[in-house]
Amino acid sequence: MSSEEENPPALSPDMHFIGKKADIVKAGRVTKLVNGCRDVLVVYHQGELYAMDLRCYHAGGLLHNGDIEEFNGRPCIVCPWHKYKITLGEGEGLYQAVDNPTIRPLKIQWRSKGVKQRTHKVTEVSGDVYVTLNDSSEAIESDVYQTEKYRTASLDA
Ligand code: FES
Repeated sequence: MSSEEENPPALSPDMHFIGKKADIVKAGRVTKLVNGCRDVLVVYHQGELYAMDLRCYHAGGLLHNGDIEEFNGRPCIVCPWHKYKITLGEGEGLYQAVDNPTIRPLKIQWRSKGVKQRTHKVTEVSGDVYVTLNDSSEAIESDVYQTEKYRTASLDA
């Protein structure tokens, strides 16, 4: 029995119920308007739950339609609009770069643009999954798409 099973985390007012873990595992991903103010995507991938802003930091693409792939050993969601790669755990934008274009063969490496997508904390309590919004005051690029204008756009876009 894990320590979390022995001592489940206490519920707090900033933890917002998303759904039953079993249902999220079965669906693979769910979206939810959290606290009436933020559209969040919760993803289950290889035994882990992740939460991030639903709309891509680049141009507002809906990430719940994106594939999940590993790049440089890091699980990422690939935005269906322009294929940007975003790490599930940290919200970093990844890209490939050539170290020195004059040296052949070209050496291509994965690099990080830094945190571009706001991620949120996921907590499981007795089979229920909660999200605590990341309320860091530091601006993150995906914040731009958490407005009423984008919220009212169809999720099927
Ligand atoms: Fe996501 Fe462009 S909107 S890659």
